Amino acid sequence: MKRVTVKVSKIQGKGVYALENIKKGEIVLEINDSHAVKDPSKLTKYQHEYECDYLADGKIVLMQPPERHINHSCDSSTYVKTIEGKRKVFAMKDIKKGDEITYDYSINGYNDGTFDCHCGSKNCRGVYQGNFFKLPKDLQIRYLPYLDNWFVKEHENEIDRLTRKH
Ligand SMILES: C[S@@+](CC[C@H](N)C(=O)[O-])C[C@H]1O[C@@H](n2cnc3c(N)ncnc32)[C@H](O)[C@@H]1O
Ligand SMILES: [Zn+2]
Repeated sequence: MKRVTVKVSKIQGKGVYALENIKKGEIVLEINDSHAVKDPSKLTKYQHEYECDYLADGKIVLMQPPERHINHSCDSSTYVKTIEGKRKVFAMKDIKKGDEITYDYSINGYNDGTFDCHCGSKNCRGVYQGNFFKLPKDLQIRYLPYLDNWFVKEHENEIDRLTRKH
C-alpha cells in the first residue's frame, strides 16, 4: 500500500505528502536506485539540481517519483538508511496524514551545493548547505545516528574527529 502521494508543495515545486499517519521509525518508502547515470557530463543543470542523488563511491542516480519530489527541511521528518543494499526512507518522528514528507539534504551530503531555504521551520538555517561537515558542530553530532552507513564509511576520519573529545 502506498503511504505517500505527490502534490504541489508550499516549500518548492512539487512535494511528497503522507496518505496516512506514520509512526516514528516506520518505513515511509523504498527508494528506487536502479537508474544509475552512466555519463555525468551529459547531465543538464536542471537534472543535477532536481533529479540527481549522489551516493557511495561517486555513484549518481536519477531519482524516480515519488522520492524525486521530497523537499529539504531544516526540521525534517525522515532520514535515509541503506538496509541490505536498498535505501529506505524512515520516519524521524510521528508524521500525520497530510503532512509534507521532508528530509534534511545536508545529511549524507558532501558537495558545494547551496540554495535559499524556504522550508519555513522555526529553526530554518536560511541557506541550505550541501556539505554535512559545514553544518554547525552540535547539529552534526545530533545528526550522527541518521547518517547512512556508506557515508560513515567514506568519511570515517572526519566523523572520528567530530566525536573525539580532544
Ligand atoms: C529533488 S528536488 C525536490 C523536489 C522539487 N520540489 C520538485 O518539484 O520536484 C530538489 C530541489 O528542490 C528545491 N528545494 C528543495 N527543498 C527546498 C527548500 N527547502 N527550499 C528551497 N528550495 C528547495 C531545490 O532547488 C533543490 O535542488
Ligand atoms: Zn530551512
